[in-house]
Amino acid sequence: MSQPGSSESIKSVLHETRRFPPPADFTAQANISSEEQYQEMWNRAKDDPAGFWGEIATETLSWSKPFDKACEGTMPNTKWFGGGQINACYNCVDRHALTWRKNKAAIIWEGEPGDTRVLTYGDLQREVSKFANVLKQLGVETGDRVTLYMPMIPELAIAMLACARIGATHSIIFGGFSADAVADRNNDAQSKVVVTADAGWRRGKEVPLKSAVDESLKKSTTVEKVVVVRRTGSPVNMVPDRDYWWHDLMAKASADCEAVAVDAEHPLFILYTSGSTGKPKGVLHTTAGYLLGAQMSTRWVFDLREEDTYWCTADIGWITGHSYICYGPLANGASVVMYEGAPNWPDNGRFWEIIEKYKVSIFYTAPTAIRAFIKWGDEWPNKHDLSSLRLLGSVGEPINPEAWMWYHKVIGAERCPIVDTWWQTETGAIMISPLPGITSTKPGSCTRPLPGVVPDIVTKSGKSLGPNEGGLLVMKQSWPSMLRTLYGDHDRYLKTYFSDIEGCYFAGDGARRDEDGFYWVMGRVDDVLNVSGHRLSTMEVESALVSHPLVAEAAVVGFPHEIKGEGICCFVIPKGQTPEDAAKQDLINHVRKQIGALATPDQIRFTSALPKTRSGKIMRRLLRDIAAGKESQGDTTTLEDYTVLAKLREEDE
Ligand code: PRX
Repeated sequence: MSQPGSSESIKSVLHETRRFPPPADFTAQANISSEEQYQEMWNRAKDDPAGFWGEIATETLSWSKPFDKACEGTMPNTKWFGGGQINACYNCVDRHALTWRKNKAAIIWEGEPGDTRVLTYGDLQREVSKFANVLKQLGVETGDRVTLYMPMIPELAIAMLACARIGATHSIIFGGFSADAVADRNNDAQSKVVVTADAGWRRGKEVPLKSAVDESLKKSTTVEKVVVVRRTGSPVNMVPDRDYWWHDLMAKASADCEAVAVDAEHPLFILYTSGSTGKPKGVLHTTAGYLLGAQMSTRWVFDLREEDTYWCTADIGWITGHSYICYGPLANGASVVMYEGAPNWPDNGRFWEIIEKYKVSIFYTAPTAIRAFIKWGDEWPNKHDLSSLRLLGSVGEPINPEAWMWYHKVIGAERCPIVDTWWQTETGAIMISPLPGITSTKPGSCTRPLPGVVPDIVTKSGKSLGPNEGGLLVMKQSWPSMLRTLYGDHDRYLKTYFSDIEGCYFAGDGARRDEDGFYWVMGRVDDVLNVSGHRLSTMEVESALVSHPLVAEAAVVGFPHEIKGEGICCFVIPKGQTPEDAAKQDLINHVRKQIGALATPDQIRFTSALPKTRSGKIMRRLLRDIAAGKESQGDTTTLEDYTVLAKLREEDE
């Protein structure tokens, strides 16, 4: 799927002709209900982005001070809603808690062991205000960074909204990352406070978090205080004057805390994401533009209605959870289901049980999960009443048409539209997606850009390509929820996203546009792995391997994997003699410890040489072919030593 951009265009091999128009009753009630309405919105946003977004921002967000100008400057240094002041927490919580929604469920939470909690908007306002006071008491000020390294419990949403309430910038680190990864990110963001838990539940086992924080703090240069939620009750080490229990601090905190009005461009959060080279990138999102993007895309794409019960299965530690568990749905006053644990605990039917129990109407998950459901068998969903569902979504990687069809038939009963949503950590909000009331979907296509999104498919030299020609997916116009910088490294921001194609944001993906203007994303053009819908840097896995005493050099590539989308294959040159096979498990454990379980290698292959260019760059494209068991295709003329390929194939088990 993922092809290196060695030629001017990328060959596309997927040809899909099935069409699925929206059911008439869905269209009749939809937020965007006619093709004309979409065309009018899209054209207006393209021709007059400031006018289009300015009107929507004024109408749909609550401002502390109105903005002067909706949009100034051009990409990459665009400023949105300059002069305006706003608070994201106020928009997600207070403005609902001040209406009849005070007693509407905001978060309907289920823990993996089966415990449940429901927080109304009124409850959320109280808890968030209290925790905002706790943060202040610990010395957190507007503009400071706070790290959240937590399980999927309501306290995570409360903590992020509390940061937003006082204008502190949150940096959420997915709970599966290791102590080293936490330390690096804390140091990069210069976090002052870490909020964590003793542990979380995953497949009936405890995932320790506090102990990882303790480990990470040995390398921290900035963290002063740690707040610990008691979740599993397992013993933890509490350091006096540094570590505090959440429940102790909350018991004493006042529920009165005004939301601080911050500038529209005030940093709301940093979220670290992998690039193909170098350390993780601290993607920075600002307040008003991000919130507007998350809010409006939720309304348009998920066709959100007051009475919906909406469930996005992502972890809040990824951008999908930021935008579509927290900010997007809460800005709309929705009822959001949040689940702590694994989809196959205590059995493979857990997700379907949750849908039946809470009568979920909108369900948003990832192709990697869908592939697992298919493998587990139809009997699991078939045991449950899924008739409450009215809309299904997919995100994270291209969904293969067969998985799409399964989702449509077995989960959606051929009744629910599917929105295949393309976007990225950097885009903040969904960019290309069906609008469920009007789009005739095609399995495998994320279809058309949302209003305000102006993409193109171009060659490396920036030439626009015609229908069905594969090329690079770029954005030609700024949008409110785009990242503003990489934290602490604006040059890297400019270089990573804006230096490849003149005047455009380059997303790093290859795609084609068909004769109807529908987009088909083909995967990433660089070396980043996409494991279970999450981007991982090959370079980070390689660094972890090389830090093991047995390893001299390593090259890591993805290969097609039935469940995870991409599996991780590691070519390893050992120091000295080729080790016993048992050493492979040792290396796998080492990578897990260094990066986290998500980066667990699927294959370790010992080799004596790696294919390299003359300048010494590893030619991963050739390794990918070997890992996938394919003949090498394309140009090998830059290969330094031709015999290496033959050797690698001989070594292939
Ligand atoms: O390659 C695309 C793929 O995931 C990348 C973004 O990864 P991340 O920043 O981790 O965010 C994931 C959740 C938004 C993209 O560059 N991707 C995401 N959604 C799709 C997709 N590829 C194809 N179709 C999608 N719907």
